[in-house]
Amino acid sequence: MITKSVFGNADFSDKISEALGNVQFPDGPTNLYQPIKYILSLAGKRIRPQLVILGADLFGHSNIEEVVPASVAIEYFHNFTLIHDDIMDKAPLRRGQETVHQKWNDDVAILSGDALLIKAYEQLAKCPAVFVPSLLTTFNKVALEVCEGQQMDMDFETVESVSEEEYVNMIRLKTSVLLGGALEMGAIIAAATSEQRNKLYNFGENLGIAFQLQDDILDAFGDPATFGKQIGGDIIVNKKTILHILLKQELSATDSEIFASILKMTSSESSEKIAQMKELYEKYDVLSKANALKEYYTQCAYTSLGQIDVEDKRKEELFSLADHLMYRAR
Ligand code: IPE
Ligand code: IPE
Ligand code: MG
Ligand code: MG
Ligand code: MG
Repeated sequence: MITKSVFGNADFSDKISEALGNVQFPDGPTNLYQPIKYILSLAGKRIRPQLVILGADLFGHSNIEEVVPASVAIEYFHNFTLIHDDIMDKAPLRRGQETVHQKWNDDVAILSGDALLIKAYEQLAKCPAVFVPSLLTTFNKVALEVCEGQQMDMDFETVESVSEEEYVNMIRLKTSVLLGGALEMGAIIAAATSEQRNKLYNFGENLGIAFQLQDDILDAFGDPATFGKQIGGDIIVNKKTILHILLKQELSATDSEIFASILKMTSSESSEKIAQMKELYEKYDVLSKANALKEYYTQCAYTSLGQIDVEDKRKEELFSLADHLMYRAR
C-alpha cells in the first residue's frame, strides 16, 4: 500500500510533480506551448491525479509508475477545462496569477487548451495496454459530461430561475464526474470489480458535489490572500451558484426587488454589485445553509466509501483527503 499521506508526505505529491514536469513540450510556436507550460507551473492542488493514484492504491495496486500516465492525463484534462472555463467566466485570476486569456488573449487560450486536451490523450495511450479501452471509456464519458455541465452552467447565467435540483445536477456534471472518473480510472488499473469501481465512483460524485459547493462558497467568502481567484467573480456574471439559489428561496418581497436590481448592475459597477449581493447573503445567512448542504454531501461521500469492500485502513487516505477538501481555503 502507498502509505504516503496526501498532504503530509512530500514523496507522494513529488511523484505527481515529477511526472507532470517530465513531459516535454516543444519550444514553438511559443503562443501555443508557453501558455500550457505556464498553467501547469502554477500551484494547483492536484487533487485529481492524487485521486487516480489513491483509487488504485485502495484496491492494492502499489506500482505507482503504472498509474502515473492516467493521473497526468486527468490533470491535463482538468487544466484544459480551466483555460477554457476562464474565458467563459471572464475570469482574470487563476491560482493567484493572471489567467491564460488575460495574459495572452482568447484565441491563444482556445488553441493552447485544445492542444492540452490532445496531450491528455497522448498520456492515456501510455497507460498499461490491457486497460486502455476501459480507461478511454470512463475518460470519454466523464469528459463529455463535463462539457454538458459547463454548457448548463453558462445557460443558467441568463435563466431567471434554477432549482436546487437542477443546480446539483449541473455541478455533478461540470465538476463531480471528473473526480469520480479519476478514482474509477485508478480502480480500473487495479483491476477492481465493476461493483467496487461503481461504489468508488459514487464516493467521487458525492465528494465532487461537496467540493463544488465549497468552491461556490469560497468564490464569495474566500480570503483574497489565499483563494487565488477573483472574489465575487460568480456574482459579477450572475452565476447560479448555491448561494444565489438559496438566497432567492428566502427573499422577502422588498428584498426580491433589491435582488433583481443587483442582477442588472453592469460591469462598471462590479465592486458595488459584489458588496450589495454579499450583504443579502449575510442578511439571510445563506452561508450556513450552503455549509449544511456541503456537509450533507460529504456524509453521503463517506457512506459510499464505507460500503467499499476493502480494509478500513486502506480508506484512511481518501477519508482524510475528503475532510481536507471540505474546509480548504483555496
Ligand atoms: C477548480 O478546481 C475548478 C472546479 C471544479 C471548482 P480546483 O479547485 O481543483 O483547481 P486547482 O487545480 O487546485 O487550481
Ligand atoms: C468550473 O467551475 C468547472 C470546470 C472547470 C469544468 P467554476 O467555474 O466554478 O470553477 P472556478 O471557480 O473557475 O475554478
Ligand atoms: Mg465556470
Ligand atoms: Mg470559473
Ligand atoms: Mg467557481
